[in-house]
Formats: sequence, structure tokens, C-alpha cells
Amino acid sequence: MAVHVSRELLGKHDKAGPRYTSYPTVPVWDREFGETEYRTALEALTHRPDDDLSIYLHLPFCAKHCHYCGCNAIVSREKDAVDLYLDRFERELDTVIDVIGRGRRTVQIHWGGGTPNYLKPPQVERALGLLRDRFDVAPDAEISLEIDPRIGSPEESTHLQSVGFNRISMGIQDFEPDVQKAIGRKQSLERTRRVFHGCRDAGFEGVNVDLVYGLPGQTRESFTDTLTEIIALEPDRVACFGYAHVPWVRPNQEKVDTTRMPVGYEKFELFQLTIDMFETAGYDWIGIDHFAKRDDELAVALRERRLHRNFMGYTTRPAPHMLAFGMSGIGEVCDHFVQNDADLGQWNEAIDAGRLPIVRGHALTEDDRLRRLAILHLMCNNELPFDLTVPEFGAPADELLADGLAAIKPYEDEGFVEFRNDRLIITDLGRHFARNVCMELDAYFDRDSKTPLFSRTV
Ligand SMILES: C[S@@+](CC[C@H](N)C(=O)[O-])C[C@H]1O[C@@H](n2cnc3c(N)ncnc32)[C@H](O)[C@@H]1O
Ligand code: SF4
Repeated sequence: MAVHVSRELLGKHDKAGPRYTSYPTVPVWDREFGETEYRTALEALTHRPDDDLSIYLHLPFCAKHCHYCGCNAIVSREKDAVDLYLDRFERELDTVIDVIGRGRRTVQIHWGGGTPNYLKPPQVERALGLLRDRFDVAPDAEISLEIDPRIGSPEESTHLQSVGFNRISMGIQDFEPDVQKAIGRKQSLERTRRVFHGCRDAGFEGVNVDLVYGLPGQTRESFTDTLTEIIALEPDRVACFGYAHVPWVRPNQEKVDTTRMPVGYEKFELFQLTIDMFETAGYDWIGIDHFAKRDDELAVALRERRLHRNFMGYTTRPAPHMLAFGMSGIGEVCDHFVQNDADLGQWNEAIDAGRLPIVRGHALTEDDRLRRLAILHLMCNNELPFDLTVPEFGAPADELLADGLAAIKPYEDEGFVEFRNDRLIITDLGRHFARNVCMELDAYFDRDSKTPLFSRTV
């Protein structure tokens, strides 16, 4: 059972901080890093022909814009919007293929959004067909997508499975009608159940759901009801995200009534409730906002301390490179992070001009690679083995990261960490504060920044 955190402890340590889906984090990447630098990274990939790839495709279209949404989502009135987007995706893909060549082995494909099932079946086949044609997709590759059950159906799920998708995750957020009204997202329990069971019947290897806590109108009682319904569905994995309210980046969120939003300890209690209910129901808390059934490969990997984390979240199949396509896509190639333009008009313009639509990136230094590895270990496996970097970095991690580890030392008195001879361990209590611990190893983190860049850590 997860250790409970007191109001005082939370008050002392709850502050804004990164989620470390990458290190260094996106806000510190270089705006001067553009197409030229990305092409150099892609060329370097040609010298590593045996490395496996992951692929991310961003499909931004949605039927309606939910008030609370923090994703890069678009509601378009244009009749051919999706086809035009796929035309440009094909062009973007071929610009990359011109550099790296066809037939690279691919072990993971993920379609995120927006709402990938906004695509009609022929459009799904076209987009997946383009990827299969340009890459050598491994027979056991993980091919996943996000769907909105409000526009889904059992027939659609059968189709998605038949073309090759083997994992699916659906947005649910909350079943309480009052909360749904507050976030501009009406979603019936019946339809969600029908689509969920349709995915099971279709034979997906993994059927996952997304929830959000901290939404206006949510109470302990109402969220207990939602969690009870979710547990009855028996999803393989659950992402229960803390609501990120960032109206300065997502103006649609101005419609969210913040006066009814649980904040501070009240919000955190909803997460503690989530942990308790899932743990009782046979799930493990994987980390931050993720849960998985105890026999799911994520939970097994966590127990065996071989879990990884990338832009898609926790994974057991780390590929050394991730190619990202579509507006706002984030990728990583040969130790270079890259992000595509998140403005559809500008992404279109770049593609039409034959350019790769990169707006920022970061070339990892030796020091970045070391800190990144250390943060990955802590975020995924709750420990930092001190010998992890030998011989790659020439000295043990505890010597190279001495300053950061000294800054972490006071967390021992709080009961968050334990320093052993050969490793630093994050305790069960400390798991709630893993991001705070990692922030001490982050060479870029601006502790005095007045600009809100990140959500709260706890
Ligand atoms: C791309 S959507 C999932 C697919 C589909 N568009 C849908 O909404 O059903 C990704 C997920 O991000 C989460 N999300 C969206 N906006 C969020 C926010 N402001 N804070 C926290 N999580 C959010 C939701 O759980 C959502 O299901
Ligand atoms: S939550 Fe999903 S459906 Fe709603 S706007 Fe965001 S991406 Fe679209």
C-alpha cells in the first residue's frame, strides 16, 4: 500500500517542476536548432544501420475541442483537412527517408493526438500503409494509438486491430456528468463501455484508459464512483493525469471554472485515492501518473528495474531513436532532440516549401547524457546505481554527480531517499517526490524562475 503524505509535507515540497519525459526538458531546447542540425542527426543515423527505431505520428484533429484540453488539438471545418494533412505527412516522411533510406527496422509505432480515430478507415490504412512501406516494421512491434470513445465503435476497433494496431488507449477522464459538463466533454458510460468491450473482443493485446484528477466539480465521492467503474472495466494500464491548467498556452481552458477546481492537498487526496483503489484492485503504481495490472509487462519491468521512459511515457521497449512526424511531434535521433512546429499553418508552410518543420532542438552533451541516465533510473526504477556510468563516462556516477547528490542529501531526513554504498534509493514515501529529487540533478533547472513552465511536482 502506498505511503500517505501529510498536508504539511505536501505544502513544503509541492512546487512546479518537469515530468522528465526528456532531459534536458523541452523549454530549455535551442530555438536556433533547426532543419540543418536535424539533417546532420539523420545522416549520423545512416552510420548506425542496425539501431532500431520508434515512430511517433501526431494526428491533431478532433470532433470538438474539450475545454480542459492541454494537447495540440485542432477542430477543422475544412472538408479535406485530414487528407491534406496526410499528403503533407507523406511529404515529411519522404524528406526524412531521402536521408536515412528505406527499410529501417522499427519496433514501436505510436499515433497520438488530437484524436487519431478521427481518421476514417481508408485514411487509417493510408497512414499506416505509408509507414509500413517506408520502414521494416518488426512482426512483434508495438503499434498503438489513442482513441476518443465518443466517436468510436466496436466495428472501428475491429478494423484498427485488423490493420495491425495491438495496443489502444482511450480518453475517459471522468464519468460524473457534472464534471463532464465543466470540462466540455459529454461522454456516456454506456458508449464508453461498448467501445472498451469492442476493443477487448477485437483482440488488442493492451486496452488502456486515461483519467484526469483535479477537474472542476470532482470530489472524493464522485471520483470514487468513476474509479469503481474503471476498475470494473479491467483495463491493462491506466494513466491518471493531474489536471494541468495552463490557459496562457491553451486559451480553450479559459472556459474552465477554476473556482470549482480541487487544488493543493484536496487535489493530491484524489491521487492518493486513485493509488489506494488501484492497488487494492490488483494494479501497481508504475510512477508519476501510471498504473498497470500486476502481471502487465510494465509492472514486471518495474519490479525487475528495467523500465524506461520516453516522450510516449513509460515503456519496456526502448529504441535508441524516435522519429516524430506531424505538427508538434517530438523526436530523438543520435543524441539530438527535435520538435516540429506546433502551429498547423507553419507546419504546412514548411512542408510545402520542402523543408523539415523543426522549430527547436538540443544536441546532448556528455554531461547531459550522464544526468539524463541518472534521472531516467530515478524516475523509472526508483534508484540510481553509482556504477551505472562506468566505463562510458570514465568515473562512477556518485563522483561525477557529487554536487547534485549533496543537494539530494537533505531529502534523507524527510525520508524520501536512502544513500546506500552502491546506490541511491527512492523510498516508498519518496516516490511521491521523485521529480523534486531529480530536479536536484537537473543542471538547467532555474530555481528562481518566475515564468510558469511546468505543472506541480506532486
Ligand atoms: C490525445 S488525448 C486522448 C485521445 C482523445 N483525444 C480523447 O480525448 O479521448 C490525451 C489525454 O491527455 C489527457 N489530457 C488532456 N488535457 C489534459 C490536461 N489539461 N491536463 C492533464 N491531462 C490532460 C487526457 O487524459 C486525454 O485523454
Ligand atoms: S481531450 Fe482529446 S478530444 Fe478533447 S480536445 Fe483534447 S485531444 Fe481532442
